[in-house]
Amino acid sequence: MTATIISGKELAQTFHEDIAQEVQRLRKNNVQPGLAVILVGEHPASVSYVKAKIKDCEKVGIHSTAIRLGERTTESELLAHIDKLNHDPQIHGILVQLPLPDHISEEKVINAIVPEKDVDGFHPVNVGNMVIGDECFLPCTPHGIVKMIKSTGTDLQGKHVVVVGRSNIVGKPVSLLMLQEHATVTICHSRTQKLTDITKQADVLIVAVGREEFVGKEHVAPGTIVIDVGVNRNHEGRLVGDVRFDELKEIASFITPVPGGVGPMTRTMLLYNTLESAKRHQAVTHTG
Ligand code: GUN
Repeated sequence: MTATIISGKELAQTFHEDIAQEVQRLRKNNVQPGLAVILVGEHPASVSYVKAKIKDCEKVGIHSTAIRLGERTTESELLAHIDKLNHDPQIHGILVQLPLPDHISEEKVINAIVPEKDVDGFHPVNVGNMVIGDECFLPCTPHGIVKMIKSTGTDLQGKHVVVVGRSNIVGKPVSLLMLQEHATVTICHSRTQKLTDITKQADVLIVAVGREEFVGKEHVAPGTIVIDVGVNRNHEGRLVGDVRFDELKEIASFITPVPGGVGPMTRTMLLYNTLESAKRHQAVTHTG
């Protein structure tokens, strides 16, 4: 079997067209969606992620502002920037690129963003609302993964989804979203015993462990849908995922590539959340 590639890049393009139309519609009603992205330091991957996010905004007509702060920025300076953006009516979404330097508390920073502008979906209020299935901003990577699986025409009801990884950004939230799709979900992690026995039972395997080409053919049964969330630079300087793509493309039914898979859809869900935030803002200002 040769897998069908789920191209996040192509799927993102179709979402961009819809988002751009919605942005135009809002603009006609005098609402210009705006996103602020804060980057602290010069982490090379973060620098390129932030650039890509700004470029995406330009593409769909969302106003964006990138605030680049030095590595030595203090926590209180960063919190002051966030406070200003929280009160800025032109800004509907605030994203602080992670990871932050060690002297700054990620928790404090995430908690400082008002939930109404937390387009990352990381604030405890949004996380809590996601858990109970209430209105919230869904975290971008998990949300993008749901869209990618749905694009294959797969009905997740009753399917066994195995998630490898338990991070707050991907593993935990994607497991919950899969549960909301009525899948049966197993979460595996670095201390899981007999990992291959579990991953082989998966109808859908989502891998977010941050370890270069960790998952291979010994982990996967024929016909599995494989979603690779990893982005690692290998010893040749090439971007590779958490799964051995060349091995698994011969076994899986569908597989996401790296690059061009989950990444572009994560960024697209950020645009989606920013647009959503602007729409909510419009609804409040027009009724309140
Ligand atoms: N760093 C890696 N992924 C993410 C993300 O989704 N949001 C933020 N803010 N930082 C990240």
